[in-house]
Amino acid sequence: MEANVPKRKETRKSLRIKVISMGNAEVGKSCIIKRYCEKRFVPKYLATIGIDYGVTKVQVRDREIKVNIFDMAGHPFFYEVRNEFYKDTQGVILVYDVGQKDSFDALDAWLAEMKQELGPHGNMENVVFVVCANKIDCTKHRSVDESEGRLWAESRGFLYFETSAQTGEGINEMFQTFYSAIIDLCDNGGKRPPSSVGVGFTKEQADAIRRIRNSKDSWDILGVKPGATRDEVNKAYRKLAVLLHPDKCVAPGSEDAFKAVVNARTTLLKNIK
Ligand code: GTP
Ligand code: MG
Repeated sequence: MEANVPKRKETRKSLRIKVISMGNAEVGKSCIIKRYCEKRFVPKYLATIGIDYGVTKVQVRDREIKVNIFDMAGHPFFYEVRNEFYKDTQGVILVYDVGQKDSFDALDAWLAEMKQELGPHGNMENVVFVVCANKIDCTKHRSVDESEGRLWAESRGFLYFETSAQTGEGINEMFQTFYSAIIDLCDNGGKRPPSSVGVGFTKEQADAIRRIRNSKDSWDILGVKPGATRDEVNKAYRKLAVLLHPDKCVAPGSEDAFKAVVNARTTLLKNIK
């Protein structure tokens, strides 16, 4: 009888990838990388000068990957040094500090810098982005909440993780998911697989949530002019309620936005004859 010899597992070619970190100075880019690669945290701020480069081997699913990490300096002073490093990148770790609203608002400018450096033929679509909302251990100073960060990331098809380089929370999970998405991208010939592109909510829903979050008063929330009639208020309310109803809308922050819309209508109708 033939022995039941298990088949030798086919070893797939190991992958080499390039990953860069982006985000304002002092948000914790270097500490996130250090926490993952060296399992330690350095409380003292040592600004990255230009670029720090490192190579690490990691095992993700059944694959071994060799990761070339280019950890960029966030300070504007180093623009001339880091601008050469954007090309041929498969993954970007985009970091902000949840206690520094400026660093969150700067994310668009970081994407714009990368886009500009890649030039007209560069393809940002086929890069895996992971957004790290970092320093979540500093709960007292939090100024960007989870739904706001998640909405920004997911409406662009980016991954989103809440992290703390200090405690290690979210760091391993973030890197595993990030590398896994890069493997899928490489296995798909360098193109983002279709399954990872859909976000489950529309741009109209994301824009409405953002607009409501930034509204000053109830008129603003419903998008009507002060002095609008009951009919106008009700019409605007119905449109937003359909768009944002939690049964229909899965966008981060939709529940709060929906509540704000209901409250705004109630407040306005009390005062309109
Ligand atoms: P540049 O290299 O200048 O662009 O900064 P960076 O983004 O690499 O920041 P770095 O990792 O050097 O961290 C900046 C400061 O924030 C340091 O003092 C870190 O100790 C601190 N820090 C980083 N991550 C965390 C975190 O998750 N929690 C807390 N409490 N502090 C953190
Ligand atoms: Mg650094």
